[in-house]
Amino acid sequence: MAFTYSEKVMDHFANPRNVGEIENADGIGEVGNSKCGDIMKMYLKIDGDTISDVKFKTFGCGAAIATSSMATELIKGKTIDDALKLTNKAVMEALDGLPPVKVHCSVLAEEAIKSAVSDYYTRQGIDPEPIVGKIESAHDHE
Ligand code: FES
Repeated sequence: MAFTYSEKVMDHFANPRNVGEIENADGIGEVGNSKCGDIMKMYLKIDGDTISDVKFKTFGCGAAIATSSMATELIKGKTIDDALKLTNKAVMEALDGLPPVKVHCSVLAEEAIKSAVSDYYTRQGIDPEPIVGKIESAHDHE
């Protein structure tokens, strides 16, 4: 199948930002795509209500790597609330778009952030249920 990626997607695929793990992360999210089996893991360091650091590891396709990279750039230094508002659509727009067959890959990035915040809330003794609901509704964007 022939389709082209934007320059931004190619850049974030070739030079992904914020790759790796955070030791003693405050929240870790791991999500998988049931369609392709790809996996994304997101690590958050949180100070107060701000995401002071974020790293990711993606075992997946180029679009999944590019969207995770862009997503980490978009939430670094932002508040938790802002990070929870980040949609896969916003990540795709920041990358100048994705081919239609690759839209589901961007959903992984949105889900991974929400999953990591949910883990953070659980560790803090805060009910993560509202976020878990949002993770499930993110599937609707696929
Ligand atoms: Fe699996 Fe892209 S093909 S996330």
